Amino acid sequence: MNGIRRAGPLPLPLPLLLLLLLLWVVGLGSALDADVEEPFIDVDEDGTLIINGSNHIIVNGVDVLERITSLSSAIETLLELQIELYPPGFEKHVITAAIDGAISVYGADLDNDGYIDVLSAGFGDGTIAWYHNHGNGTFSAPLIVAANLTTARSVYAADLDHDNYIDILSASEGDDTVAWYRNYGNGTFSNQIIINQTLDGPRSVYAADLDNDGNMDVLSASVNDNTIAWYQNNGAGVFSAPKPITTAANGSLAVYAADLDNDGHLDVLSASYYDNKIAWYHNNGNGTFAPQDVITSAIDGAWTVYAADLDNDGHTDVVSASELDHMIAWYRNRGNGTFSAPITITTAAEGAQSVYAADLDGDGDLDVLSAAYTNGKITWYRNNGDGTFAAPSDIDTTAKYARCVYAADLDGDGDLDVLSASADDNMIAWYRNDSPFTPILNQT
Ligand SMILES: *[C@@H]1O[C@H](CO)[C@@H](O)[C@H](O)[C@H]1NC(C)=O
Ligand SMILES: *[C@@H]1O[C@H](CO)[C@@H](O)[C@H](O)[C@H]1NC(C)=O
Ligand SMILES: *[C@@H]1O[C@H](CO)[C@@H](O)[C@H](O)[C@H]1NC(C)=O
Ligand SMILES: *[C@@H]1O[C@H](CO)[C@@H](O)[C@H](O)[C@H]1NC(C)=O
Ligand SMILES: *[C@@H]1O[C@H](CO)[C@@H](O)[C@H](O)[C@H]1NC(C)=O
Ligand SMILES: *[C@@H]1O[C@H](CO)[C@@H](O)[C@H](O)[C@H]1NC(C)=O
Ligand SMILES: *[C@@H]1O[C@H](CO)[C@@H](O)[C@H](O)[C@H]1NC(C)=O
Ligand SMILES: *[C@@H]1O[C@H](CO)[C@@H](O)[C@H](O)[C@H]1NC(C)=O
Repeated sequence: MNGIRRAGPLPLPLPLLLLLLLLWVVGLGSALDADVEEPFIDVDEDGTLIINGSNHIIVNGVDVLERITSLSSAIETLLELQIELYPPGFEKHVITAAIDGAISVYGADLDNDGYIDVLSAGFGDGTIAWYHNHGNGTFSAPLIVAANLTTARSVYAADLDHDNYIDILSASEGDDTVAWYRNYGNGTFSNQIIINQTLDGPRSVYAADLDNDGNMDVLSASVNDNTIAWYQNNGAGVFSAPKPITTAANGSLAVYAADLDNDGHLDVLSASYYDNKIAWYHNNGNGTFAPQDVITSAIDGAWTVYAADLDNDGHTDVVSASELDHMIAWYRNRGNGTFSAPITITTAAEGAQSVYAADLDGDGDLDVLSAAYTNGKITWYRNNGDGTFAAPSDIDTTAKYARCVYAADLDGDGDLDVLSASADDNMIAWYRNDSPFTPILNQT
């Protein structure tokens, strides 16, 4: 089924009909799945006939439960077929072409109007900017939050001071700065508030509650001192000095956090370029982390790391992008803190620098997105549901020096759109997902 492109308008009524049927049948199926202690038949005062069966319910010789189950799975199969036949198309819209060396992009609702706004970092012009989402697929001109950073590398957003407004974080390599910008809630942000400037060459910033105190802590990866560190938030956006998690990630470019062992604590992940490592650090739950546990060092030019459950087994898997072998790979989490060898998704993402996972086609599993620097491609890989992936499907082939990819519902239609940052054409762009399935399927 791969490679079949949309030839004409989608025959909407059929998938819609299938969907309604599916919802109805699944609803019925799950009601009948309920644990019933005693088989039971009764008529209530309204005259409703109530039948509870713990095994089979036979009506005129037909096993109703079995019939509903097989009908439900037949409809699900039909629907999956429809989704495969009509994969989402993506239409490119430029948000700006004026961020010199656009390198990082992120989405968050910064003004609490229900629409996801966009954030960017510019490597060349040292800017952190945001773009107000008008809610109709158009965005404001860049609203500059910071303009004097030296080699801005990374932008992220999280509510750091518990005022219900999402604040902005930046990492700038040249001035060794990890900083945040307080969201005043009226569309303006504070001047830069420095978190720390003692680490050498911060390349990536992330926020996560690492000590389960309800405050978003901050994480950084700094390339010249091989350090992954965290900064403890006291709840008011006041941060501790850097607490190193490792100093053994040689050329660390990226940091991420996810609960990899299902113990309720967010563990930390790193990608380091010179030693080609994707590694994780078990969160002991008391503010300390276990030593580096290498997931792989068998890739070339590890650039970034991400985590998501790709095979729907309830364990958070790990995904990497490596620049020199052009590879997007994932590592199956066996559930006990060990991971499989790299499972290749593609080796054609030339100069891969960014990877993300999101359900783009609405079939209930997480697909993978990549940004490739050398060939300017933004590409998605459809997940078959079990962690095997369809052939690459390009969303854009002209995102020159693509640096970053992200997904968010930017037009409020329920499906996930794609965002890119590309450095050579100074561009932040979004790609409207036209899938007819996602909005409806998400409700199941
Ligand atoms: C019948 O099933 C319903 C739904 O599971 C449950 O609420 C109800 O208690 C059951 N009645 C009996 C008598 O088992
Ligand atoms: C989108 O909304 C903005 C702000 O309300 C408005 O200025 C603009 O004309 C709208 N654009 C379209 C294409 O509807
Ligand atoms: C950047 O620096 C210039 C010169 O020091 C200053 O005039 C300007 O206000 C600064 N801009 C921002 C956004 O901080
Ligand atoms: C936004 O809020 C800040 C902090 O309360 C205030 O200083 C600033 O003047 C406000 N700006 C606008 C445009 O309302
Ligand atoms: C950064 O952390 C160091 C300790 O590593 C501390 O001495 C310094 O005051 C901190 N700097 C800032 C700006 O918070
Ligand atoms: C990091 O990697 C570089 C390049 O391979 C190497 O020269 C250097 O010795 C390594 N540093 C450490 C601390 O291992
Ligand atoms: C934190 O937990 C680890 C693992 O259980 C333990 O080895 C360490 O001593 C604890 N550290 C502190 C400061 O409590
Ligand atoms: C983890 O689970 C895998 C698969 O079940 C098993 O082969 C491996 O020995 C386990 N490793 C540890 C350290 O428990």
